[in-house]
Amino acid sequence: MNHQCNAIDYEQFIPRETGFIFKFEKVGNTFIHTFIEGKLIEKVGLCPEYVVGKSLFEFLPPDQAQRKEIFYEKAWNGENVNYEGSFGGVQYLAILNPVCHNGVTIEVIGTTIDITKEKIREKQAQQMEKLSVVGELAAGIAHEIRNPLTSMKGFAKIVKESVSDQKLIPYLDIMMDEMERINQIVNEFMFIAKPKENVRFQNTNVNKLLRDCIQFMGPQANLKSINIELEAKVQINLNCDGNQIKQVLINLLQNAIEATENNGHFIGVSLEEVSADAVMITVSDKGCGIPESRFNRLFEPFYSTKEKGTGLGLLTCKRIIDLHQGSIDIESEPGAGTTIRIVLPRNRNVESMLIAE
Ligand SMILES: Nc1ncnc2c1ncn2[C@@H]1O[C@H](COP(=O)(O)OP(=O)(O)OP(=O)(O)O)[C@@H](O)[C@H]1O
Ligand SMILES: [Mg+2]
Repeated sequence: MNHQCNAIDYEQFIPRETGFIFKFEKVGNTFIHTFIEGKLIEKVGLCPEYVVGKSLFEFLPPDQAQRKEIFYEKAWNGENVNYEGSFGGVQYLAILNPVCHNGVTIEVIGTTIDITKEKIREKQAQQMEKLSVVGELAAGIAHEIRNPLTSMKGFAKIVKESVSDQKLIPYLDIMMDEMERINQIVNEFMFIAKPKENVRFQNTNVNKLLRDCIQFMGPQANLKSINIELEAKVQINLNCDGNQIKQVLINLLQNAIEATENNGHFIGVSLEEVSADAVMITVSDKGCGIPESRFNRLFEPFYSTKEKGTGLGLLTCKRIIDLHQGSIDIESEPGAGTTIRIVLPRNRNVESMLIAE
């Protein structure tokens, strides 16, 4: 056993902004908390009154309390203990340090820090890595699917034009629609796997680009009596891949239309300069919004809450924006709507792009 008892005053060192500190002692067979302080307490849905003077079982669900009791016991036996956990939607790292006097543990000081953001980043990085390995393979397969698919589409069209039994027409229509869908998924997937393959940066008028996208999505929005309104007080030219940025806008507008009820709400698109070196495009809707619990999953491949959704739309956007060295940020409130902000730099760091190649 590792008897690293020490008596550091942890209260001086703890990043209270991102965590909390606590202390406990063993009274009989029960660990009783004697102190707790820090901003994270509230965030995890606790307050000092629930904790101080109480055992784990008095404020935690039994399974969690049992798991923690094992760590507490180890720390009481003189070990420095680290463990990760999650509570109230917050992922944390806890460290328990026993304080000894004459070789006997008199109390344990625990420090807990919020590692939610780090965990999200880690997961995203893992996903991207997974996607790039699987993506290489999938892109190859997707490429192979495209050729037979093209001949199937062509022949289905010929059959449709010459078929004499009219009852077969609706089936052929469904076949053609489904083949088109496969085609779209294959194309999207190939792009996600290798977004740099066909990138073409050129001087692009962003105002015109936005107008084109709005015009393109207009008929679909009109079906739900939705108006798409553009607000752009400045003329902005940007060195970007216009087709790719169009794809981003179309995906975002598509999501915004799908999230909005048939009630004549409008979708706002705006373009502004946020600084001398960056511009921001915002798409906001007054649709169903996104609950916080789903936030972490939005950029996962194939994550969709829609019956006919593929779940590649936002990931495609992210890949394109990353390629442009920009950022995409989502703010949403269930029932109130969603705002997506894209910031694009005017000058991309060409050197870092070359390294990324
Ligand atoms: N504006 C929005 N309002 C509400 N939910 C949204 C919005 N945009 C995205 N979402 C949520 O994020 C999920 C993922 O979006 P994404 O565009 O990646 O996939 P999708 O729209 O489901 O499928 P597709 O690949 O056809 O775009 C959606 O299924 C939806 O739950
Ligand atoms: Mg979508």
